[in-house]
Order: sequence, then structure tokens, then C-alpha cells
Amino acid sequence: MRIDVLTLFPEMFDGVLGSSILARASRDVPDPAAPDDPSRVRPAVASYHVHQLRDWSDDPKHARVDSPPYGGGPGMVLRCEPVWSAVRGIAAMDPTPPRRVLLTPKGRPLTQALCEELAQEQRLLLVAGHYEGLDQRVVDRLREDDNTSGDGGLLEVSVGDYVLSGGELPAMTLIDAVVRLLPGALGHAESAHRDSFSPGVARRLDHPHYTRPPDWQGHPVPDVLLSGDHAAIDAWRDEQSRRLTAERRPDLLSTGSDPSASTAPLIVIRDTGLPPPKAELDPLLAVHAAAFPTDAEAQLVRRLFAGHDVLFSVAADRDDQLVGHVLVSAMTHEHGGSVRGLAALAPLAVHPDHQRRGVGTALAREAVRQAREHRLAALFVLGDPDFYRPLGFRPAADHGYTPPESVPPEHHHAFQVLPFPHRRPVPPGRVRFAGPFDDLDN
Ligand code: ADE
Repeated sequence: MRIDVLTLFPEMFDGVLGSSILARASRDVPDPAAPDDPSRVRPAVASYHVHQLRDWSDDPKHARVDSPPYGGGPGMVLRCEPVWSAVRGIAAMDPTPPRRVLLTPKGRPLTQALCEELAQEQRLLLVAGHYEGLDQRVVDRLREDDNTSGDGGLLEVSVGDYVLSGGELPAMTLIDAVVRLLPGALGHAESAHRDSFSPGVARRLDHPHYTRPPDWQGHPVPDVLLSGDHAAIDAWRDEQSRRLTAERRPDLLSTGSDPSASTAPLIVIRDTGLPPPKAELDPLLAVHAAAFPTDAEAQLVRRLFAGHDVLFSVAADRDDQLVGHVLVSAMTHEHGGSVRGLAALAPLAVHPDHQRRGVGTALAREAVRQAREHRLAALFVLGDPDFYRPLGFRPAADHGYTPPESVPPEHHHAFQVLPFPHRRPVPPGRVRFAGPFDDLDN
């Protein structure tokens, strides 16, 4: 993701963007298991470009960009022309049109859900206002300006019901909350932790944490955490998180955005290994058979595992019971071996008793995260566009790809692609699934 920021105080960003997870996200990171192997480097997942608004001043002598408000009153107002020229100029610095965001106390509240939405963008342009804000005419003009993001051209965001001296701290807050969601931004242990939680659980307050010593000034760590019983630990943490949320933020449990939030146990996302252990294969096939009306899907999974086309395989457990599974398998391109790194996210199955509770989203997200880590060039999917759009998928036809011959014309709109910008773009043309998919339809 490319992030541009427009501000009067670029120096404020140095410390935050140059430290900790945000700094790491903007660097290529070698794999600690193979530090000298360039093919195992995790490429930077974010780049930051902080711009001084005064560089677009129309006052060459003093580089002023503000004036007193018409009608009187305190403070200064940022003038239209410098802001307008800066936003247009910065947008043109890269071919990807940015999603434009203005930080303002009048904006839409920044929530985890909004951060997840923004994390799907390839590029953000954040405008940090200062003083009494921006001349309303440039805000209105930016809102009207055509823009591919479909939000009317400008998303106004507030970080809370209080007034800060400017949009810089809110912009940094937004960057931190969004970048840590980008696949690969967090280290392995942290991301495993995060990915263990369904969106429903993530909307709750976190459970308490403890570390050494086991007894501090007569205050012991809860016994269960020292028990080594991981199921009991998970259950205890889940209960603590639920209780704390009910006590302090009951509004989070009754938002209606996730009806299962107050009752859903943890979803654990994990790799099955390739091929999965024998004892796992039957439950896996059973989930596919249960999720789809015919047994064809389960047969397809069996055959994909038997071949050599599966790149990775991810399972979802709830209460130690397998409830969902997804495979990512290789695809080919009509230009043959010269086009590498294409894969299909398919099939994705969630047991009917566990649908609509975030299992499918958690599986698809993990598949996208791993696809990036595998340095794939593009991930294809045949599925509901409303489900896959928030994950960054777009109609494959828009990128010039023709679906496999086995996809009937009435399903062409459901054939979607997520290209990964760190790889060379894949040329337009016809793509094909791995063998068993096509066999199935013929
Ligand atoms: N600028 C000043 N206060 C702000 C807030 N609460 N959120 C976003 N931008 C701001």
C-alpha cells in the first residue's frame, strides 16, 4: 500500500513512521530462517510519502497557505488553491488513484471495521488539516471530484469526539491501525495471534495479559495461565474478554453488525499441511460435502490433493471442530510458463451450521495473506463479488483476463482477480484452473 500524507508539519511523522511495526512494514524483511536467501525476503508492505503543503503555496515569498476567516473569528483557515493543487499533484505522482481521506472532527468515526475497509485499498492520500480547518469550498470540491473509490471522492474521518490541534495525530493513528492489518505487516507470532480471531471476536475488548513473575507483591497470576492447558486458557481468555466488554462497552455487543459476537467461540485458523494427515482428510472432505449440494466439491478437493497443484491449504476450527477449509491451487496462463505465480482461491467451504459468522471471511483473508507471502502475482476466485470485493478482488475482465473455458458465460461476472502489486503485472489473456477443475466440468 502506498500512503501519501499532506500536512504543514511533516516532521511530526518521522518518529512514528520510522519506528516499530510501521517502520518494519516499509522495509523488505529477510526470512529469519534463511536470512541470505533473497527469494525468501518479505517485500515491504507499505510505503510512506509525507508532503509539505507549503510546497504548493501560491505565495512564493512567504509560502503562506492560510488566511483569516471571512466573517471574523479566531484562527486561520487553509486556502482552497494550495490544498487543491497539492491533492491533484500528489495524486498524479503514482498511476494508482488514491482513496482520499480528510482527517476532521466532523468525519465518520474511525473504527476497526473502517480500518479493515481502508486496508483493502492500494493507495491512500491523507489530508491533515490544521488551524480552523480547510476552506469549505475545497472540501466540497474534493468530495465531488470523480474518483474510483466510489465514496464521492473524499472520506472524512474523525478519531474521536474531541478536538486536537490538527489532523496529524489522527492521520498517524489511522496509518498505524490500517498498516498493521496489511498481510505480512506483523511478525509471524503476532499475525498468528491476530488471525486466530474472527471479526466478531476482534470487535470485543481484549482479555488481560500477565507475565513474569508468577507472584508480584502478593498478587498471583491466574492459575489457569500457568496450567499449560491451552483449551482452558483459550476459554478463560474468551470469557474475560466477553465479561470486560459487557461491563465497559456493552454497545460493542449489541451493534448488530455481527449477530454472533456475544455467543461465537473463537475461530482458530491453521494450515493443514500438504497433503493433510490421513486422519484429517475425511473431516475436510466432509466439510466440503456438507457445504455444497453435490459431492463434486469434495471429489475435487481429493483430486487436487492427489495432484501437485495445491500451494497451501487452510482450515478453520471452532471449539476444536473443523468448520471450514480453503485451498489455493496453481493456475496457468495462455502464454504458458513465462507467466508465473497465478493461483486460484478455491474451493472455499464453510459447514452450513457455521455460515454467516465470519469463518469464510477469516479463511479468505488468511488465503490472501499467505498468497502475498508466497509472492504470487495474482489470485483468482469464482464467487460472490459482494463477499470478495472487501478483500480487494475486482472483476477479472476489468484487468483483461478471460476466465477458463469451463466457466459458463452467466458466471463470468463472478470471476474475479486480486493482483499483487509487488510482482510484475500479469499480461491479459485466458487463464486456466489446475487439471481437476476443468475435468469436472467436461
Ligand atoms: N483534527 C482535529 N481533531 C480531530 C479529530 N478528533 N479527528 C480527526 N481529525 C481531527
